[in-house]
Amino acid sequence: MKIGIMGCGSIAKTLVDFKLNGKLNVNLAYFYDLSLDNAKSLAQKVDAQVSDSLENLIENCDLILESASQTAVRSSVPQILESGTNVIIMSVGALLDVEFKTYLENIAKKSGAKIYLPTGAITGIDTVKAARMGEIESVSLITRKPPLSLGLEMEDDEEIVLFDGKASEAVKEFPKNINVSSTLSLAAGMDADVKIIADPKITRNTHEIHLKGTFGEFITKTSNISSPDNPKTSLLAAYSAASLLNKLSETIQIGT
Ligand SMILES: NC(=O)c1ccc[n+]([C@@H]2O[C@H](COP(=O)([O-])OP(=O)(O)OC[C@H]3O[C@@H](n4cnc5c(N)ncnc54)[C@H](O)[C@@H]3O)[C@@H](O)[C@H]2O)c1
Repeated sequence: MKIGIMGCGSIAKTLVDFKLNGKLNVNLAYFYDLSLDNAKSLAQKVDAQVSDSLENLIENCDLILESASQTAVRSSVPQILESGTNVIIMSVGALLDVEFKTYLENIAKKSGAKIYLPTGAITGIDTVKAARMGEIESVSLITRKPPLSLGLEMEDDEEIVLFDGKASEAVKEFPKNINVSSTLSLAAGMDADVKIIADPKITRNTHEIHLKGTFGEFITKTSNISSPDNPKTSLLAAYSAASLLNKLSETIQIGT
């Protein structure tokens, strides 16, 4: 299976590192980025090709992994799906726009393409999916980030609640920071309650999920180390994408 990467930043770089150390069992064949230099610098590490257009990427790949931006999802994913090419979307926030998500689903159903959304930088999506087989009563996410990863400089140690509302609004206000709230909401089938807190006392991005349903309840907390190349992105997001890529070709499938 030939994999094309759209968006050659921190997530793509981690995938390349996994490929180089033998942990990623797929063919990273083509790299595409608005910045040709970014695409070239990753492609050359794994002896892959550089695509100079989305069309070229689509033509040559069986599956495209989007690791670019919500804007890229809006402008490129419809075309990818129309061609029947499967896609993994990292910028999941774009899919909390119900109209756009339905639009993508309809294109994919028609062409037979699949849309994959990796778990990302949180814990518990397996359980959320299983819980949904019964009734989910409530689902919430509390995200704490060091100010730097939110692009803020704070003078004292007092935390600040930057956002308190629904995930569908959070992904619009913080498009590069809160994709996990989108994955959580889509898995739960309801718009999660989200709090985003800038906390000068922490060094890691942390995500706490509280979910109640007919099965009982669970709480998970993930304390993430940021990518060295992008403080907004947790390393676990790229690990999750790599794990999904491996899963697609594994004989034994573990987890829900
Ligand atoms: N699902 C999750 O849990 C999760 C976690 C972290 C980040 N993300 C999202 O994944 C995406 C990538 O994250 P990253 O840290 O690798 O970002 P990054 O900023 O390090 O890299 C993004 C790359 O995409 C390129 N790009 C931007 N728009 C493009 C377009 N239209 N076409 C092609 N290339 C384009 C940029 O030039 C850049 O090289 C972001 O949208 C981020 O919010 C998702």
